[in-house]
Amino acid sequence: MSLDEIAAVLRGCTESGDWRDVVAGRIGAIGTQLNQLHAARDYLAYLLSCPGDNPATDCPKLRHEVNQIALNPGSTAVIDAMSEHSAHRPEPSIGAHHDWHSPTYVQDWISADVTHREQRRPRLRWAASLLPLHDLQARVLDVGGGYGEFAGQLLAQFPHATVCVHDYSTAMLDHARANLSEFGPRVNFAQADLTDPGWTRSLDGPFDAVVSALTIHNLGGADAIPPVYAAICSLLKPGGWFLNLDLALNVLLAPADTPLTQLYARAQGPTADTSHHHDRHNHDPLPTAPGLEDHLGWLRDAGFEHVDCPHKHLSEMLLVARRPT
Ligand SMILES: C[S@@+](CC[C@H](N)C(=O)[O-])C[C@H]1O[C@@H](n2cnc3c(N)ncnc32)[C@H](O)[C@@H]1O
Repeated sequence: MSLDEIAAVLRGCTESGDWRDVVAGRIGAIGTQLNQLHAARDYLAYLLSCPGDNPATDCPKLRHEVNQIALNPGSTAVIDAMSEHSAHRPEPSIGAHHDWHSPTYVQDWISADVTHREQRRPRLRWAASLLPLHDLQARVLDVGGGYGEFAGQLLAQFPHATVCVHDYSTAMLDHARANLSEFGPRVNFAQADLTDPGWTRSLDGPFDAVVSALTIHNLGGADAIPPVYAAICSLLKPGGWFLNLDLALNVLLAPADTPLTQLYARAQGPTADTSHHHDRHNHDPLPTAPGLEDHLGWLRDAGFEHVDCPHKHLSEMLLVARRPT
């Protein structure tokens, strides 16, 4: 307490009222400080779990928070960022904490992704090369296509193809338009939220192939993903292939003390798990989360055949599935 406050308590009153108001006010201020310290401790414990070598470049969520703080010097932005994070913690969910509708967040995510392009692009290119689309005036859909990385690979490999880049984020689609402008009329765009049961209405199907990367795992688990797989199956022409290069969250989010986590943590250098550089920070750790076998089962239940995983590397998996002829 300040000397004035101590004096008021000793006097038994303040100029405006009861000495108890002074003590109650001080207790309230201590409570606020305690909450801030709890939030700070939780935030730092969360930061400690970062798997990246340099969170400042590897984690778009941290960068977003730091940007917010830099934009508001002197404000309570640091505390707000910490409190916002700790407010997320008590209710773990499979869903992600990305903010795909924020232009700043999207810009930061893309900047972080660009630093991993050399690792990611060959995998997208290889996945695209599996599609039997050469010499076809094929129509391809990229679900949750973001700023157009997968679409760019498809457009380059299949010179007769057109690609529809779908996403629900205006900011991402703006980046995709700029990124893919060199392909002119061979690329078009569609905006819809995959959690809206009518999301396919905005699309001009059917498509010869549908692809997706790093998107569907964001939707959650058994409630949200199977209907999206069923909708994708219905968007394909008979015999059309669906490729999903995505994350096995059961591997990505497994607690640190499980045998597989410990085994995979030994992967260093070129075999290290770079697939999720942007993602672990945006999900709560979970004892159970969907993995490869869940996705394979959901694809079969959605009506696909020839369901397989031709590539799996730690938490990254490529799923392939064909609509029956
Ligand atoms: C991690 S980014 C991947 C972007 C792109 N596929 C790539 O590989 O670069 C995930 C994308 O999914 C989109 N997305 C997430 N949830 C969505 C939803 N419910 N409906 C539509 N798009 C969604 C985001 O806007 C974002 O562009």
